[in-house]
Amino acid sequence: MTMDQERIAKYRSVWNNLRVPVRPGPEGLALYREQIGSLVDRSILILGTTPELVDMAIDLGGRRIVCIERDPEIMEALRQLGGRDWGNVEMVVGDWLEERPSFANAFDAVVCDGGLLFLEFPGQWTALFRLVHGCLKDHGVFVAKEWAEPEGRRDYEALVNRLITDFSSATRGSGREEILEAYRCLASELRLATFIGTTRPEGSFDQDIMVERLGRLLTRLKAEFPDPEMMEITESALIYLARSRPGTTDTVAGARYEEAGKLLAAQGFRSKHFPLPDRPVPGANYMFAAWKT
Ligand SMILES: C[S@@+](CC[C@H](N)C(=O)[O-])C[C@H]1O[C@@H](n2cnc3c(N)ncnc32)[C@H](O)[C@@H]1O
Repeated sequence: MTMDQERIAKYRSVWNNLRVPVRPGPEGLALYREQIGSLVDRSILILGTTPELVDMAIDLGGRRIVCIERDPEIMEALRQLGGRDWGNVEMVVGDWLEERPSFANAFDAVVCDGGLLFLEFPGQWTALFRLVHGCLKDHGVFVAKEWAEPEGRRDYEALVNRLITDFSSATRGSGREEILEAYRCLASELRLATFIGTTRPEGSFDQDIMVERLGRLLTRLKAEFPDPEMMEITESALIYLARSRPGTTDTVAGARYEEAGKLLAAQGFRSKHFPLPDRPVPGANYMFAAWKT
């Protein structure tokens, strides 16, 4: 297969510019480590190619590590961001929702950082939970991170203004590298802030509101932070992340743990909720661990 090297380099730079809450934070990584680390055999299926998770699986002595990602160039870009030798990792280009008979009862753990956002709720979530249950050995664990807005009303515009003002005052007088690093965090936080108030009763995000907000934020940030490196960070979070088609985004559903837990139970999982403190809305990023019973 010939791959577009320019696109790979672009996505490597995009992911290099992303931070928590888009990428896993310390509390989330600790939970993945705790769950995978307690397994005896450690065959691990990773939905996506999150570099932190692949590196962790290698560090923990994973006997078999498999990643599935539908976009081969994003997969290669993320492989290049890994800090370990991924030579023995099986890289499968394909759809998580495809049935793979050779995966039946083959894994001790399945992990996925943020992947449920890309699947329609409840149909594709149910399909995924059924497939994951089938892939796991008895007592195997499925650990995943998702974003869903907690109860309560939030003012999106006020939050955006506060995040930008806080960034500007916190970095006044700082060195360039420190400013750029704080700006990477700000851009990732703003990207997820655009979900606020957009979840419809059935769990899907209103794409029109999100696209309008992303466009407006892009214009604002480019005007307020015209430095070329900052513009690249802005574009990474607001133009390139999860936007494979114009006029919409690839992030489609934000269902809460209570809903996820019911679907997991229906497939034969016993599960537990772990809210994460990730900014800008603590508890919105959450994880669950679900054990095959
Ligand atoms: C796993 S999620 C979140 C990003 C994650 N932190 C990572 O590093 O891979 C994003 C990735 O999932 C992939 N993806 C979304 N839906 C998928 C599906 N049904 N099958 C395979 N890959 C999918 C997208 O192409 C995207 O690169």
